[in-house]
Amino acid sequence: MKKTYKIAVLPGDGVGPEVTAQSVKVLETVSEKYGHDFVFKEGLIGAAAIVKTKNPLPEETLELCRRSDAVLFGAVGDPMFDNNPGAKIRPEQGLLKLRKSLNLFANLRPVKVYPDLMDLSPLKNDRIKHVDLLVVRELTGGIYFGEPRKRKDGGTTAIDTSVYMKSEIERAAKIAFDLAMRRKKKVTSVDKANVLETSRLWRKTVGEVAVKYPAVVLTHLFVDNAAMQIIKRPADFDVILTENMFGDILTDEASVIAGSIGLLPSASIGDEYALYEPIHGAFNRAAGKNIANPIGAILSDAMMLKISFHLQKEASAIEGAVEKFISDGFRTMDIADKNTHRSKILGTGETGNKISVYIFN
Ligand code: IPM
Ligand code: MN
Repeated sequence: MKKTYKIAVLPGDGVGPEVTAQSVKVLETVSEKYGHDFVFKEGLIGAAAIVKTKNPLPEETLELCRRSDAVLFGAVGDPMFDNNPGAKIRPEQGLLKLRKSLNLFANLRPVKVYPDLMDLSPLKNDRIKHVDLLVVRELTGGIYFGEPRKRKDGGTTAIDTSVYMKSEIERAAKIAFDLAMRRKKKVTSVDKANVLETSRLWRKTVGEVAVKYPAVVLTHLFVDNAAMQIIKRPADFDVILTENMFGDILTDEASVIAGSIGLLPSASIGDEYALYEPIHGAFNRAAGKNIANPIGAILSDAMMLKISFHLQKEASAIEGAVEKFISDGFRTMDIADKNTHRSKILGTGETGNKISVYIFN
């Protein structure tokens, strides 16, 4: 009997709905071509959910995710909240609570360079041409979740707390080392162990996990230095393992290597559930204009097929179609330049259509 894959789709805010519509379109193409049964169910999250239910992550959405085999996520965020530091309910809480509730403790963010897009990067071609790195960002600990987080002294003092347990560092590190074993066998662990206690525990624990992987070469870098080295010699990195906030910052930085943050997919995994999303945010200014790049979302499909469903051939078909789209000269606005002919610049929906055609043929 044909296996049914249940996929929860959480479009969220800004360009989220447009790009997830393309990832669904691409999965429908894959199901038609390869004979799979993907069933999609939509849920509310972020500002869209606050408007309808006053809750950035309604219980119904969480239940939907728990009942599904994988989650496809768009983006959350709205300037209405960004410009109001006093807002108690915020769209981002929806995503953070979802990560925590589903125990998605490792976020995988691969960065690759497409030869035809190298000129988009502010970095020199010869530095980036061999870049193939993967950031493993711890996703459910650190300063994002530690308690207390509050105001005191009548609101004039603010406190956030960074907490890491050894077990949390271990499980993220194991994922990084396991992935490194299937790649170039190098792990760079990033911390701030010269200043932070959590980082000293981080460094010690990662060193202990490394003992079980004698084939992998482990290097430690302080985060300030890592920020510099990623730009100076990005091709030297294989797997970068780091804590939650450092990973948030370093992956935006690393995305400039690829030329546009719109190209990059991610997977957030745990022991039981997995969520897939482009690494870009809601980009509200572009919402509804059919100009957002859906490639990050579409490549997130490929990660889902590989990691959650073990459909390698189908994942490769998506990746191959994206490569062909680019090498045939098609561009979305963010990856076009002055030499791109107008007829080659496609909208969000047309990009999804074109990539679907490449997959099918
Ligand atoms: C990301 C985003 C989120 C984060 C926000 C939207 C909460 O920036 O996924 O990188 O900070 O983790
Ligand atoms: Mn981020």
